[in-house]
Amino acid sequence: MVSPAIALAFLPLLLTMIIRYRYYFVLFYRAVLVRIVHDCRTGLSREERAFQHVLTHATPGDPDSILDAFDYWCSKVEFISNIGPKKGIVLDRIVKENCPLTVLELGTHCGYSTVRIARSLPMGARLYSVEMDARNALVAEKVIRLAGFDDDTVELIVNPSDEVIPKLREDFGVERLDFVFMDHWKRCYLPDLQMLEGSGLLGEGSVILADNVIFPGAPNFLRHVKKSGLYEYRVHRAALEYIRGIRDGMAELTYLGVK
Ligand SMILES: C[S@@+](CC[C@H](N)C(=O)[O-])C[C@H]1O[C@@H](n2cnc3c(N)ncnc32)[C@H](O)[C@@H]1O
Repeated sequence: MVSPAIALAFLPLLLTMIIRYRYYFVLFYRAVLVRIVHDCRTGLSREERAFQHVLTHATPGDPDSILDAFDYWCSKVEFISNIGPKKGIVLDRIVKENCPLTVLELGTHCGYSTVRIARSLPMGARLYSVEMDARNALVAEKVIRLAGFDDDTVELIVNPSDEVIPKLREDFGVERLDFVFMDHWKRCYLPDLQMLEGSGLLGEGSVILADNVIFPGAPNFLRHVKKSGLYEYRVHRAALEYIRGIRDGMAELTYLGVK
């Protein structure tokens, strides 16, 4: 038995831990506990629940209203790791500044960032979005089409990134990627970046934007970016999507070309 005196001695430590890590507790509560309860109650995935909300609150053909409906759901009801409105503004700006004609997105999830990118693209541009989870992809396909983007503008590819990247040239006729958005599992960032470097699909001035490089973090990826000398880069700091108080950032890389 622990004596009450010893238990009391640990109380300040416990309180300090709770205060210091309170935002991580909130994230755990919203992303894990709330999800488990709703999964059992509804028999649907959280992506399907979010889509039901979007379907009943957004205007078909209006990407802005679809993003607003997602943002409401994810900030007030259930956490979903969409890029969210704050980091989304950085994504919007980078896409608009670069006017990319061929875009690759790794990690579609519900299609939130796909819609965000697609609405900022110039006429005639094409976005290939890669998602390996078939159930998420089903939701994403509906979201993308609800927003009004057809198969010529946004093509959803349901497969893991390491199987898709080597086939982009042969199967999809891609000659060069102007913009790549990485938002899939963080352990895939470095191998996929190296695969892209080896594919010859990156050209001088190609831009790569990688989300969550601070939280959960992608240290090996950042180390390679810094050491390789292949990129100009900067990190845009911003809070984690839909949760206050957790620091995150997006790395923007500009490929300098083969030296
Ligand atoms: C953080 S979510 C993407 C969020 C989305 N970009 C947005 O902001 O709306 C990550 C998604 O990447 C997918 N994913 C993870 N690793 C992948 C891989 N290697 N290839 C394809 N999809 C992957 C997961 O199934 C998940 O749906």
